[in-house]
Amino acid sequence: MAQDTLLVCILCRCSQTEEQQTSLSDGQSLFNRLQDGLKTIDNSHCIRLQSVRCMGACDRACLAAFMAANKLTFILSQLSPTDAVPDLLQFSHQYMDSSDGKVPYKDRPITIKQKIHAVLPPLPARLDSYSHES
Ligand code: FES
Repeated sequence: MAQDTLLVCILCRCSQTEEQQTSLSDGQSLFNRLQDGLKTIDNSHCIRLQSVRCMGACDRACLAAFMAANKLTFILSQLSPTDAVPDLLQFSHQYMDSSDGKVPYKDRPITIKQKIHAVLPPLPARLDSYSHES
């Protein structure tokens, strides 16, 4: 089974000023902070952090997504590259501990409650189960 993964867009920029275009992107800053945070966690219970280059919702930076086989996918947008970090780390534990990704709403950190862009169902075990039967 594929490991639980936290995707972070490292190209996201919350603002498009010329000065900020030359500095570290907000997405890269978020990724770096998450990477630092995960270093303090036991490796056996550590979500896989993966960078991506654009998730197609650039006007809603910063973007991140939790995904795993047989689990809900959570796509989060408009994340602060600083303030969101503790809640993303907390949710990574809750997500990994859940067999289906359905972390009860009341237990989710505030950032997860407020910044959900979309929640997608798990892929079926067999993709052709979505095909029409005659
Ligand atoms: S640059 Fe991050 S979603 Fe496009």
